[in-house]
Amino acid sequence: MLVSAEEMLKKAKAGHYAVGQFNINNLEWTKSILLTAQEMKSPVILGVSEGAGKYMTGFKTVAAMVDAMVDSLGITVPVALHLDHGTYDGSKACIEAGFSSIMFDGSSLPIEENVEKTKELVAICKEKGISIEAEVGSIGGEEDGVIGAGECADPEECERVANLGVTMLAAGIGNIHGAYPENWAGLSFETLDAIQQKTGDMPLVLHGGTGIPDDMIKKAISLGVSKINVNTECQWAFQKATREYIMAGKDLEGKGFDPRKLLAPGAEAIRETVKEKILLFGSDGKA
Ligand code: 13P
Repeated sequence: MLVSAEEMLKKAKAGHYAVGQFNINNLEWTKSILLTAQEMKSPVILGVSEGAGKYMTGFKTVAAMVDAMVDSLGITVPVALHLDHGTYDGSKACIEAGFSSIMFDGSSLPIEENVEKTKELVAICKEKGISIEAEVGSIGGEEDGVIGAGECADPEECERVANLGVTMLAAGIGNIHGAYPENWAGLSFETLDAIQQKTGDMPLVLHGGTGIPDDMIKKAISLGVSKINVNTECQWAFQKATREYIMAGKDLEGKGFDPRKLLAPGAEAIRETVKEKILLFGSDGKA
């Protein structure tokens, strides 16, 4: 059964560790992440961008697949199925489709509109027992067509949005989706500290988990980050392993062309990446 992310994130905040959100693209991705979370006895959040939802033929398909897979694989750790960077309409569609968690990303809207729409969705989610993430300040870079300038969030605005009853809050602190540039200034811990002081027990979310050095991840967790999103790193792991398989000519040997064989090294590589992140975030053994 899919669960809201509320309880796992409250526990993470109190226990000073973070739960990973790993984005999914297809069946292989989902299976690799679920099996690894189970092996590591870790709660897990499966992230679905609107683009990935569309790719998988719609949110209903995704919810049905994940729900059934949790059951078929005998997964007993808490699993939340979460919309990543949702629009207002996308959020409503996911609630309807059976997601157990949503993110409404109103960060590109004027703050008053972000507040209004977030408030409206909070009321719907509360009624249905679904967790909801809001965003203030934008995450830099591009993810599935969602482009952000990467400005740091205003701690006063964070306090305002946190008080709307959201479950978790994503705040821009210099983080970027995808690869970090050579001249990246690093995370703004000053901003994170100020946000945490204004938002108290609210679990904070760090997007753009790919490529952030381990010491920065640990410091962010010590300053109140309880959910860390990782997407690109699993894509790179999958691509690298698949490339190696083909470059070694393994797809030409025997039945190496069988899709189950062709996709296996990539799926295994995702498992390794997820395992490393779970250990780094400290959520192993916390289910
Ligand atoms: P990365 O692709 O940089 O890991 O970011 C993932 C993310 O923040 C999803 O919302």
